[in-house]
Amino acid sequence: KKTTLVLAPFSGGQGKSGVEDGPEHMLKAGLQKELELLGWDVAISEPLKDLDLDKEKKNAKDVFGKCKRPALVSDSAQKIYKGVREAIQNKTLPLTIGGDHSIGIGTLAGSLAENPETCVLWIDAHADINTPSTTDSGNLHGCPVSFVMGLDRAAWPPQFSWLDSVTTLHPSKIAYIGLRDVDVGERKILRDHGIAAFSMYHVDKYGIAKVVEMALAKVNPSGTNPVHVSYDVDAIDPLYTPATGTPVRGGLTLREGLFIVEAVAETGNLSALDVVETNPALALQDTHALDTVSAGCAIARCALGETLL
Ligand code: ARG
Ligand code: MN
Ligand code: MN
Ligand code: MN
Repeated sequence: KKTTLVLAPFSGGQGKSGVEDGPEHMLKAGLQKELELLGWDVAISEPLKDLDLDKEKKNAKDVFGKCKRPALVSDSAQKIYKGVREAIQNKTLPLTIGGDHSIGIGTLAGSLAENPETCVLWIDAHADINTPSTTDSGNLHGCPVSFVMGLDRAAWPPQFSWLDSVTTLHPSKIAYIGLRDVDVGERKILRDHGIAAFSMYHVDKYGIAKVVEMALAKVNPSGTNPVHVSYDVDAIDPLYTPATGTPVRGGLTLREGLFIVEAVAETGNLSALDVVETNPALALQDTHALDTVSAGCAIARCALGETLL
């Protein structure tokens, strides 16, 4: 069992600083050791090592239409894409630690490039499927899914053309769990493409176990394809993960949140994991940062089999 921790200390997909410190905090909390104790061989990859984030973020010219910092986001995503591909080529499971969710462009593209059959569980309060035309905020962490699906291609900032060589994600191969803050334009996209979206309503109605079962049956009916889980810690209720940039109340309990990845671990199909949007700088008290970081580490451990006794 081998995993590569792909460190993605990136904050250019949204406006708040501090989310780039997520990976450092999760490592300081002992993540590598914890995974080793579970029997994993752990390598570390730092595809953004040469990026001067502070300098690049100040480049006021980096805008395209409503999109903020497209050059920076695209460049980082492409570096992460290469890091994830390399991790898979080395026969290791890429575990990417963010960073804001715009890095999902790179991680999903990496998975799809190595295996076009890859399907996706996107665990989030948000759908992150805005396009450059529908986004209100202009923050690209609200858009990664639309890019990997190749939606609204004509409206893309030119820097993203490298994605054209990567298999696009078919709408039937992604399911959401945890949604509760979806923009009007995103609702239309979800509906028009018949995308499987399990909101908090469905979690309450069916229970988390049934929801995960339905989500996996939708995206991976044969049960044989690789599953990439992209996990935004804001899917979990801010009671448990308060230190995040766009918290929304009424989310998953910590146990529901961990159950999702435990259930995927049980299938044996997990092929990649992202844990994103931990922002220790947004903690109003010390326990907020600790709780959020430890929830992020728990997601990683549970996905890698900790609770399968
Ligand atoms: N839908 C909003 C937007 O487009 C919020 C996105 C939040 N995304 C996230 N990865 N936390 O800006
Ligand atoms: Mn910092
Ligand atoms: Mn979110
Ligand atoms: Mn997200």
